[in-house]
Amino acid sequence: MNADAEKSIGRAAEAGRLGIAVIGAGVRGSRLARTLQESRDWNLAAICDPDAMRAAELSRKLGGAPHFGTIDEALDCVPLDTVAVATPLRFVHGTAMTALRAGKHALVERPLADSLERGLELVAEAQSNSVVLMANHAHSFTPAVQHLRTLTLSGSLGELLFVDVVRTGTLPDPAQRDVFWDLAPESLAILDRVLPEGLNSREVSAFGGDPLGTGRDCVGHVNFRLGNDALAHLYVNRLSCVIRHQVVIAGSRLTVLWDGMRPGNQLSVVASKPGWDTGTLPGHWRESRQPWNTESFPAAIHGQETHLVAEFARRIREADGLASPDASALRVLAMLDAVAVSCSREGMASPVQPPVAAGKAVKP
Ligand SMILES: NC(=O)c1ccc[n+]([C@@H]2O[C@H](COP(=O)([O-])OP(=O)(O)OC[C@H]3O[C@@H](n4cnc5c(N)ncnc54)[C@H](O)[C@@H]3O)[C@@H](O)[C@H]2O)c1
Repeated sequence: MNADAEKSIGRAAEAGRLGIAVIGAGVRGSRLARTLQESRDWNLAAICDPDAMRAAELSRKLGGAPHFGTIDEALDCVPLDTVAVATPLRFVHGTAMTALRAGKHALVERPLADSLERGLELVAEAQSNSVVLMANHAHSFTPAVQHLRTLTLSGSLGELLFVDVVRTGTLPDPAQRDVFWDLAPESLAILDRVLPEGLNSREVSAFGGDPLGTGRDCVGHVNFRLGNDALAHLYVNRLSCVIRHQVVIAGSRLTVLWDGMRPGNQLSVVASKPGWDTGTLPGHWRESRQPWNTESFPAAIHGQETHLVAEFARRIREADGLASPDASALRVLAMLDAVAVSCSREGMASPVQPPVAAGKAVKP
């Protein structure tokens, strides 16, 4: 064991932190590694990347965590509790499997896998090793989305009328299957978190387009019904000139807008009909004279993952998540699988498979 590894183990033991290796030192891995290093829950115990210079550079920037070319080397050389997978999508499943088989908890870049079937394989492996598996759906744990969840679950919005989601970006991710797998997972994860019944649609209808001839859909629409038959629409576009991420949830009393691109991840509320009483809202919302009462939350892009890594540590420490590792991520995969089938049938409604692991439905 080298001096860096010994130092790192010493730090972890001292502070009772969970030791974690970040696998993949690219855009996502670097950001996550920084967040982990700043967290009191975690000890950044190793960095892995086959690009040795990239791994060394990230290690240097973040206080000298030992770095390796492969996950196997890291598992051999450093005592780890957990692995965070931020490799290109085609390596995610194999890398996560290696970690789970070694008995390590795993935090996996979104989406959790490239199909529901492969997601279920990861869940089964996590369950058989009694470790926590979680997808990096970072928005779901931010204060703004937590607050939105409180509003929806408390019934403050009234009866749900419709849900409208827009997620656009400016460049296709060549590693992803298409725009749905690239941009929809985070929005679907938010809906699963905040809708009173989660993502429980029986079928979806979707169609996509590839106007630039890239070989995969870059623009797409997804429609599905909520439990009370209200309509939900999700628009994704990778060829836009602006980056947008907005979720509108309209109820019979109040309509809420979550805007992931505005500073502070703002949440805004308006009465659905003029003259409706907003009396169920906290005082600071009611007192605003703006047409939309707006509140900001501390959630810059860097901040989003702060809440995620805290939640991941909580699930490990409280053994919460051992019984059904990230059922939410599986429901997202089930929707994406159904979207793919619907697209291949020109938008025909396609059933959403209920996620099933080890012979039983995965509970929320
Ligand atoms: N960048 C984003 O905004 C974004 C958003 C959502 C999801 N993702 C997903 O996150 C993952 C990483 O994306 P990124 O943008 O950081 O990619 P990236 O290309 O910037 O970084 C990937 C890194 O992984 C390394 N790598 C390749 N094979 C490896 C292996 N077997 N073991 C360890 N490291 C390996 C590469 O050398 C590279 O440094 C992808 O699955 C991507 O789809 C990225």
